[in-house]
Amino acid sequence: MARSIDLAVIPGDGIGPEVVAEGLKVLSAALPSDVKLATTEYDLGARRWHATGETLPDAELAQLRGHDAILLGAVGDPGVPSGVLERGLLLKLRFAFDHYVNLRPSRLFPNTATPLAGRPDIDFVVVREGTEGPYVGNGGSMRTGTPAEVATEVSLNTAYGVERVVRDAFERAAARPAKKLTLVHKNNVLVHAGHLWSRTVERVGAEYPGVTTDYLHVDAATIFLVTQPERFDVIVTDNLFGDILTDLAAAVTGGIGLAASGNINPTGAFPSMFEPVHGSAPDIAGTGKADPTATVLSAALLLRHLGHEAAAEKIEDAVTADLAERDGTPRSTAAIGDALASRV
Ligand code: NAI
Ligand code: MG
Repeated sequence: MARSIDLAVIPGDGIGPEVVAEGLKVLSAALPSDVKLATTEYDLGARRWHATGETLPDAELAQLRGHDAILLGAVGDPGVPSGVLERGLLLKLRFAFDHYVNLRPSRLFPNTATPLAGRPDIDFVVVREGTEGPYVGNGGSMRTGTPAEVATEVSLNTAYGVERVVRDAFERAAARPAKKLTLVHKNNVLVHAGHLWSRTVERVGAEYPGVTTDYLHVDAATIFLVTQPERFDVIVTDNLFGDILTDLAAAVTGGIGLAASGNINPTGAFPSMFEPVHGSAPDIAGTGKADPTATVLSAALLLRHLGHEAAAEKIEDAVTADLAERDGTPRSTAAIGDALASRV
């Protein structure tokens, strides 16, 4: 475990800087006193794009590469055309730093709201492939804008890409009490990619006899996430299905204010990036109403990734205890951050 952390921080836009300030507050409070934390801020996102037209210049990409990890708030505002920051910044980082594991834990904390009846016991994690599938930009359109337009968006699946994310998911499942892995795909219709995924899970699974595996079509998985979420432990799935399932998972487990995520390169060859699932929330930016808890939980994922397990657990315990005492009285972003920092 490293005795220093060299962290890149991208506060971003809207509530991004507000929640990141609290995330850093709690992160540094949780670290053992002999671990040195250095942070470098990067001005990237909508504000930067409006000012200079830049999304992620190569020089900054190279600088970011030198850090141990990245903490991101949120980027975007209504004035930036859709796709500019997604492709030019977020996806660019994901592909450049080979973030092939997109990790989204879903846990229903005590005393938090869920739309599900009967408060099921929810504690699962989605391992979503992050560098392949339909998100690679493998497509095009011709006769664009005419009645004869043709558009393709081809899903890319490689044996190498599927195997490495499946292995990561098995490792995570083996380390959890329930030791269960569910592959989610649509292999009855998307037979080419689907069978590659199924065969890979079967083959790699032979090396993990302690892990139970099962399979669900993605449409069935959406039903069970609502009717029987307790059946899930680790879900492994492709980029597109994972995108959709993780939002549903956030919705049934306390909502967007609590959903944390990591874009991870498990090999350590590149820095991994941790961020709340929510966006820049322009509707509440500057009002102090943003809940920083999702960012704080993302900081815990960051610490765990860097080997600081005890500090990560301290943060998660602090969040659990804080949520248990929430009674609906509104608290400011900074008040929640202060409360969590003092608990760790
Ligand atoms: P959003 O997540 O920013 O907001 C959706 C709703 O949830 C809003 O009513 C907002 O006030 C509320 N909300 C979000 N985070 C909250 C928090 N921490 N505490 C309390 N309430 C919270 O999604 P929206 O409105 O679709 O997008 C706003 C901007 O954020 C857009 O420019 C979008 O492109 C960008 N965005 C950026 C993401 C990223 O940086 N990874 C992810 C999602 C959206
Ligand atoms: Mg999404």
